[in-house]
Amino acid sequence: MTATIIDGKACAAKLRRQVAAHVARLNTDHGITPGLAVVLVGEDPVSQVYVRSKGKMTVEVGMHSIRHQLDADTSKADLLALIDQMNADSSVHGILVQLPLPKHLDEHLVINAIDPAKDVDGFHISNVGLLGTGQKSMVPCTPLGCLMLLRDHLGVLDGLGAVVIGRSNIVGKPMAQLLLNDNCTVTIAHSQTRDLPGVVRRADVVVAAVGRPGMVRSDWIKPGATVIDVGIKGGTRLTGDVDFEGAVAVAGAITPVPGGVGPMTIACLLANTVIACCRANGLPEPGGLTT
Ligand code: GUN
Repeated sequence: MTATIIDGKACAAKLRRQVAAHVARLNTDHGITPGLAVVLVGEDPVSQVYVRSKGKMTVEVGMHSIRHQLDADTSKADLLALIDQMNADSSVHGILVQLPLPKHLDEHLVINAIDPAKDVDGFHISNVGLLGTGQKSMVPCTPLGCLMLLRDHLGVLDGLGAVVIGRSNIVGKPMAQLLLNDNCTVTIAHSQTRDLPGVVRRADVVVAAVGRPGMVRSDWIKPGATVIDVGIKGGTRLTGDVDFEGAVAVAGAITPVPGGVGPMTIACLLANTVIACCRANGLPEPGGLTT
């Protein structure tokens, strides 16, 4: 058996086309152009690649792209002042502060200074709480992209056993919430988990979000399981958490790295920005974009 390769690149391109169509309609019908502001503090090369790519795709779907490049030694007061200014700017519908931040800046404090309605990353404490209680929120882009790929491939997820490997605030934890909201039986595994291979072997759905190349071995995968590999950036090269070559012979379906989850993340960021723009203007949210 050979697994179906889940084409995240194609799925993301389709989502971006839908976003572009909504942006065009907002523009012609209401004279509104959604705006996304991205803040990068310092010059981390990996973050620079992400931020450049986000800006390029924002423009491609017809939205305003605003970029703030700040020095690595920017003070907390200056960063918070910029966030206040963007919170108050009605032409900015989405705000993203690229993580990680330099050590002297408290990430929680900075993220929680963003207006939750403009928090297109879904990292603000109030969005986290809304997601955790099954209410309308901004949903973090990477787990949202993973969920869309899973729904696209499997249809309904009701009753499936899902294991999320990794418990980060950016991916693992919100991923588990989304799967739970979709009626999966969810296990969150992490570095202290006992018998990780055994835990993974029971799962119909595996989401690997650790950042350790090839750590998920193919003989851990339940035959026919659906495997989503979030992977990581190591230097500028993308590497998956799953032994892809081995897993492709066992899994029912698997995402490649690159070309799986990565492109979905940015497409979901653009979709979140359109949703935030509609909410800010009291307009109906585009149906079927991310749900
Ligand atoms: N750094 C790595 N991934 C992300 C993300 O999704 N959002 C932000 N803001 N920073 C990141």
